[in-house]
Parts: sequence; C-alpha cells; structure tokens
Amino acid sequence: MQIGIVGMGYVGLPLAVAFAEAGHEVVGLDADAAKVASLGRGESYVEDVPDAVLAPLGERLRATADYADLAACEAVVVCVPTPLSNSREPDLTYLLDAANSLAAVLREGQLVVLESTTYPGTTRERLLPILEATGLSAGTDFHLAFSPERIDPGRTDFTVRTTPKLVGGITAACAERARALYAEICDQVIVLSTPEAAELAKLLENIFRSVNIALVNELAQLCDRLGIDVWEVIDAAATKPFGFMRFDPGPGMGGHCLPVDPFYLAFKARQHDFYPEFIELAGKVNQAQPSFCVERIERALNQAGKPVNGSRILILGASYKGGIGDTRESPALKIIGRLQDLGADVAYHDAHVPELPGHGLASVELEEGLGSADLAAIVTAHPDVDYERVAAVAPLVLDFRGVTRRLAADNVERL
Ligand SMILES: NC(=O)c1ccc[n+]([C@@H]2O[C@H](COP(=O)([O-])OP(=O)(O)OC[C@H]3O[C@@H](n4cnc5c(N)ncnc54)[C@H](O)[C@@H]3O)[C@@H](O)[C@H]2O)c1
Repeated sequence: MQIGIVGMGYVGLPLAVAFAEAGHEVVGLDADAAKVASLGRGESYVEDVPDAVLAPLGERLRATADYADLAACEAVVVCVPTPLSNSREPDLTYLLDAANSLAAVLREGQLVVLESTTYPGTTRERLLPILEATGLSAGTDFHLAFSPERIDPGRTDFTVRTTPKLVGGITAACAERARALYAEICDQVIVLSTPEAAELAKLLENIFRSVNIALVNELAQLCDRLGIDVWEVIDAAATKPFGFMRFDPGPGMGGHCLPVDPFYLAFKARQHDFYPEFIELAGKVNQAQPSFCVERIERALNQAGKPVNGSRILILGASYKGGIGDTRESPALKIIGRLQDLGADVAYHDAHVPELPGHGLASVELEEGLGSADLAAIVTAHPDVDYERVAAVAPLVLDFRGVTRRLAADNVERL
C-alpha cells in the first residue's frame, strides 16, 4: 500500500516508521519545512525513533510538504496537533487547515483516518463536511474513520504492534477499511460502533489518569499537613493485588495530552448544558501542584535560614516526564518561572533539554550545578541521573518524584 501520514511529530513519525517497516510505501507530510528536510537527511527529531531506525527504510519513507504527493495514497492518516487556545478551548486550526489541504487532493477510493485526540463529534461534525464539500461521499466514494493514538513516549514495554488499536468509522464499510489498515501494523484492532465512541474512549483513558493523579497529588498535600510519608502510604496500598491501581504524586501534570484533553471534553459537555465537575476539579488540583512545590522549596530554605531571593536553586529535570526531552506544559517550567520571579538564582540540569530560551537558561553539568546549589529540587526523574550522588553533594534536596525514598539522608525532603 501507499500510505500518507499528515503531521510527522511524536505520533506521526513512529506510525510512519511502523507502516514502512511492515513493507508499505509511506509519504510523510509535514507543514514544517525543517522537519521535512531533517527526514530527507535521514535525521530523526523524535527520541523514540533513532536515526538507525530510519536508515534501513530508505525510499519506503519519503518526507514532503506538498499535499499533491498524497494523491497516490490509498490511505491518509492525520496526526496534527490539537492544542488549547488562549481561552483554554479546543484549537482545531491545525486540524481544519490539514482537512482543507487534504480536501483539495482527495480522490475516490481513499481512506482518511484521524488520530489526533479530540472531543467526540470532531470527525463527523468538523472533518466530514470539509471532505464531502469536494462532492465525494463518505462510505461510498471515500472512507472516513477515527482511531486514537495511544503512544506513550519513552515507553518500551508496549509498542505500536502490541498496543491494541481502536477504530470507529462513519459507516461500517469505513470501519472495516480502517481495521484492515491497522491490522498491517497492530496485533489487535477493536472496531467500535461510531467515531464518537472511539473519540470519547481516548479522552476517558487520559481523564482517568488525570483524575487519579489529582487524587494522589491531593493526598500528598494532606500527608504534608499530617506528617505522614505519602510514598510509604502508596507503596503499602499498592501491595493489594486487586481493587487498587497505583498512581504516583508529582510536581504537576505536563505533556500534550493530560493537561489538555479534559478541556476538550468539558467544551463538548458545555454545549450540551452539562458541567463535568469531577474532570475540571482534577485539572484544578493538578494545575495547583507546581505552586505547592514552590511553597515546599520556600519552606525548606526558610528552615535553613535562607530566603528564596538570592538562593541558588538547581532544578533537576525540565521535561514533563523522565527519559524524554518534551517540555510541553512541563510543571518544571512553572516552578522555574515562579522561583525566578521570587529572585532565586535558578539553574537546571537536563541532558534531554539543552536550553530553556523562555527562561534565559541552558542546562548545566550535574556536578557543576550541585557544587554551587543551596538546594536541589528533583522535578523530573530522568533514569540517567545518580540521585544518591545528588543527595550526597547538595546541602538540601527536595524530591518531588519519590526517587530517593529508599535513601536515609537528613538533607532530603520528599513531596
Ligand atoms: N505526543 C503524544 O504522546 C500523544 C499521544 C497520543 C495522542 N497524541 C495526539 O496526537 C496528535 C499529534 O500530537 P503530536 O505529539 O504528534 O504533535 P507534534 O506537534 O509532535 O506533531 C504534529 C505535527 O503536525 C505538523 N502539522 C501541523 N499542522 C499541519 C498541517 N496543516 N499539515 C501538515 N502538518 C501539520 C506539525 O508541524 C508537527 O510536526 C495530537 O492530537 C495529540 O493530542 C499525542
């Protein structure tokens, strides 16, 4: 098959690689000329896809910025961003731009699948009319389906092949074509009755995590008041073999998905005069977590007789989760910004994030940062950092990830 992927980012590039590795001809389209050029040189910009994976694919993965190159594709999968606007509402501009460009080259017999995370109804209410304005009808002239991406950057125990794939088609024929497409690269494809069910299933998966993370974040704040070690409590609860699922507290939620997706569902719910308080409350609790972390830093410095103003604070980890360099919505950025506002002399160490231009900072070497810090705060736990060493060198350590919980050290405080 010839398969087009629109949006060659964290989602689109690994998907393109999966289809190319399965022997298909892939046209990888991106509006960003730098990404197209990079792929043309065989250079990846996504950590989960090393250059060595691209090299053997050769001409089977061809990057382009020209929608006309999609004309020969039997299937086109759309993986463009679905962020929030400044007023925290769904921003579908990337999706609608891609849909309009795609409509200009859509031809009979093609299958179009949307993978971008979005509110239920997007495929039918927003994408379908743009594609049908061509005069072609979905279900007969072309096929249209939604299939949520479930990728978890940095994860190696589940792959595109071993993670079950959901599909929902505008018609049964649309669903069947989408099922057959993904059966090429996934061991298990589950067909739902509608695109809306598939869209909402994806939001449920992410909101489930958001709500549970909010629960343990709130518990961490309560444990701080009660003087109980929240990590000991969670480790203990997690010994129950049924009826409990472990979630860890942290400095707040980041990434493109968890902080964003609940707002997509809340937007749709409001249109139906329904206010999902549970979901919004989870968002509120998680958004407040970086402020709580700053308060803990202030308190720890205060106990050491130091004001935040002028103190040298080393932030360990700037990305939103360990092992990757993605800083989108990272709580570390909020913590760094707030500490800078308070007059702290902030440095950070993150081998995955060389610079934070918005904060005027570049990553320092770990030893250099530790050598001069009044306090080191573990905000993101990268697996390549020696936290025992951090605890041994820094005069004060605040651990917001629980990575030091097996260390007995008087200079270390945990969330
Ligand atoms: N990153 C994740 O872990 C993850 C996981 C599951 C779902 N998703 C969802 O997948 C979607 C894509 O996310 P991502 O992380 O891959 O985003 P990304 O920003 O890494 O990649 C999107 C790409 O689309 C390109 N693009 C934007 N507009 C375009 C257009 N009109 N035509 C062609 N290309 C265009 C951008 O240049 C970019 O390279 C989002 O809806 C996201 O919520 C992401």
